[in-house]
Amino acid sequence: MENSRQGRVESLSKSKALDKEPLASLDGQQIKKLLDAWSFSQDIRIYDRLDSTNKKAKDLAKEGAIFEGVIIADEQTEGRGRLGRAWLSKKGTGIWMSIVLRPVFSPNHAAKLTVISALAVSQAVYRLTGTRLLIKWPNDLVLNNKKICGILTELRADKEKIHYAVVGIGINTASQEGDFPEDLASIASSILIETGSLVDRKQLIAQILREFQDLYSHFTKGGDFSSHRALYRDLSASLGKRVRVLGPKEEFEGLAIDLTDSCSLLVRKDSGEIEEVMAGDVSVRGMAGYI
Ligand code: BTN
Repeated sequence: MENSRQGRVESLSKSKALDKEPLASLDGQQIKKLLDAWSFSQDIRIYDRLDSTNKKAKDLAKEGAIFEGVIIADEQTEGRGRLGRAWLSKKGTGIWMSIVLRPVFSPNHAAKLTVISALAVSQAVYRLTGTRLLIKWPNDLVLNNKKICGILTELRADKEKIHYAVVGIGINTASQEGDFPEDLASIASSILIETGSLVDRKQLIAQILREFQDLYSHFTKGGDFSSHRALYRDLSASLGKRVRVLGPKEEFEGLAIDLTDSCSLLVRKDSGEIEEVMAGDVSVRGMAGYI
């Protein structure tokens, strides 16, 4: 087991890692070859540079120029995160991709797309490197208490129907310490910094898409989310921790006690009252810092 993982991961010194994989290694045909035939992977579009893969994905989906598919860029000039934040996406330092979906389920289930993506990323990184990324509710993946991956799910929907969904996944695979600005340096990191290993991005993309497909179709075909929820609880970096919830209207502290079936976080306030926190506009911080 350990050996097969190691076979897929190149262990490199940090200086060697500066020789980034050539762009050709993010070739869509090569990624497709690594995948069994299934819907999203039939339309993988790779760009050297985009402002944002989520923006491109939404534009294409709106025009009907893509049905379901995957948009990947080697560099983003205006990568976006939740709550209007910027997402640093330097050339060759990570995976910047957006999955376009046309789910037939109700918009009430949309938060599940973020959870499914987070599980897919954690599973894929584990299978390729043996390293477990934990999930900081609602959309971050962390390693050694540092943020490695962020997910931004955007929808065009009305009350009953999702017209399209775009799930943007940003993973810092090969960023170096100096790549992060001062304000992010204590929060953000990369797989390379934390493990010393440079993961092959096209293998990781293919594995994420495989895991995503399994988790997504398990839910869309059978309607069952219980195994996802169980896995999400196991991988949670938030549960059992005291957290500070920062919403647009109020701020409070409490103990993160559970995740609901609709993917909200249950927080027990010191008064004993249990608050159900939905991802929306909320940011959650640990008492000692980021987690
Ligand atoms: C967050 O942590 O706030 C979410 C970050 C999401 C970043 C990814 S990178 C690919 C996709 N394109 C974007 O502009 N954002 C997402």
